[in-house]
Amino acid sequence: MFYSLWVLLFITFGSAYDYRHALKLSLLFYEAQRSGPLPASNRITWRSDSALDDHGLNNEDLTGGYYDASDYVKFSFTMAFTTTILTWGMLSFRHAYNEAGQYQHGLDAIKWATDYFIKCHASKYEFYGQIGDFSLDHAFWGRPEEMNMTRPAYKIDIEHPGSDLAGEAVAALAAASLLFENFNQSYSDELLRHATELYDFATMYRGLYHDSIPGAKVYYESTGYGDELTWAAIWLYKKTKDVKYIEQAETFYTKFRIKDRPNEFFYNKKVAGIQLLLAELTLRPEYISTIKNFCDYTIKEQIRTPKGLIFIDKSGTLSHAANVAFICLHAGLTLNISQAAYVSFAKEQINYMLGSTGQSFVVGYGQNYPKQPHHSASSCPNLPEPCGWKQFTWKGPNPQILYGALVSGPDQNDHYEDVREEFLYNEVTLDYNAGFQSTLAGLIYIENENKL
Ligand SMILES: *[C@@H]1O[C@H](CO)[C@@H](O)[C@H](O)[C@H]1NC(C)=O
Ligand SMILES: *[C@@H]1O[C@H](CO)[C@@H](O)[C@H](O)[C@H]1NC(C)=O
Ligand SMILES: *[C@@H]1O[C@H](CO)[C@@H](O)[C@H](O)[C@H]1NC(C)=O
Repeated sequence: MFYSLWVLLFITFGSAYDYRHALKLSLLFYEAQRSGPLPASNRITWRSDSALDDHGLNNEDLTGGYYDASDYVKFSFTMAFTTTILTWGMLSFRHAYNEAGQYQHGLDAIKWATDYFIKCHASKYEFYGQIGDFSLDHAFWGRPEEMNMTRPAYKIDIEHPGSDLAGEAVAALAAASLLFENFNQSYSDELLRHATELYDFATMYRGLYHDSIPGAKVYYESTGYGDELTWAAIWLYKKTKDVKYIEQAETFYTKFRIKDRPNEFFYNKKVAGIQLLLAELTLRPEYISTIKNFCDYTIKEQIRTPKGLIFIDKSGTLSHAANVAFICLHAGLTLNISQAAYVSFAKEQINYMLGSTGQSFVVGYGQNYPKQPHHSASSCPNLPEPCGWKQFTWKGPNPQILYGALVSGPDQNDHYEDVREEFLYNEVTLDYNAGFQSTLAGLIYIENENKL
């Protein structure tokens, strides 16, 4: 599906970093974040069933899905963005997942989220966006299996819309529908049905989800829904090839001024991803030059740390760098623009995360990796030892290794502190790992091509 990679023969290949191993670890991180009843195949020995009573306002079963970060709130907005990005990586770099022996684990990781989104979509115009209350949740430090605070459910509906949340869910479900096409046709159809209903909801009842679910604002503000509406329409087009969706995407693109160059790509700003997908799906020069402009700006002009890491924000520094690496690597491969430069940029950023400065930022990868991720479950000792706030402040390594988690990262001067309490350095979240994992898949794909 991609252009010839002959250009890459001129790049030094044979990396010092084991991208396959890192991909495998990243999937373990997602497994450690699972909520609900765990299957017998659970590979995380220190995790078991939890939050078995999660339910909606009409007592709907809302068990399952993923915990967002260190805490035990389940956040559909970032969970859906994570799902879209992971699925995109699997769709584009399927052979990389196979090569790393991770394809089935990848599918399982996606399905863990999409099964939950199906439950959240309680009726046509109703979707649960959050389970758990922040102040109640953050008063607890310990194992998810032992939490006993009440976990309220929050939703969007006709009176309280959220086009951004519904739109991101559409993207995740449509992308997953495409992924499952070849494995489980009835599941793929079911995902598409939910995606199209939620698309109607998102487009007909407009609003920002954090106005309907106010608790979300402090943590995951959404500053507009124009990008999600466009993103949703594009993913439905990519899945169905129904031209009405690409027409609507282009209408939104104009109406919401999506053509301006963004500074970043993350859950609150999908513009660069939209520009890339429009370029790939239409091959129109205006879209190709728009995404080229974004990548050239990112590589040549974006702020960097002295050691070369792209620096967009102190919160999730590394994930921001991984996300733009994913966009530009993908653009280089699919559109054959500046391929060698974009690939080496992605490698440079990912290698930083894997230890090119002497510090690995991926838990359990390499020699010198984060020992104290800001993550309560893995900070707990083996049972039957109790776990509580003492573990939060304890100065030793987390007793359980949270394999594969990419931490927030260093500051603008490459300064980093491996201290559990310092969430600006050591926070871990679902969305931090998503672009990282999909870029790893792209780098594995390139290594495979070069071997041919
Ligand atoms: C890809 O781009 C390079 C450099 O511009 C060009 O030489 C090559 O022919 C292109 N390959 C394809 C398949 O278009
Ligand atoms: C909840 O758990 C804490 C300890 O983690 C315990 O002190 C408290 O009594 C429990 N509350 C209920 C309602 O079970
Ligand atoms: C397809 O997915 C559905 C829904 O998860 C599941 O019940 C069914 O067993 C799957 N079928 C196959 C053949 O895997």
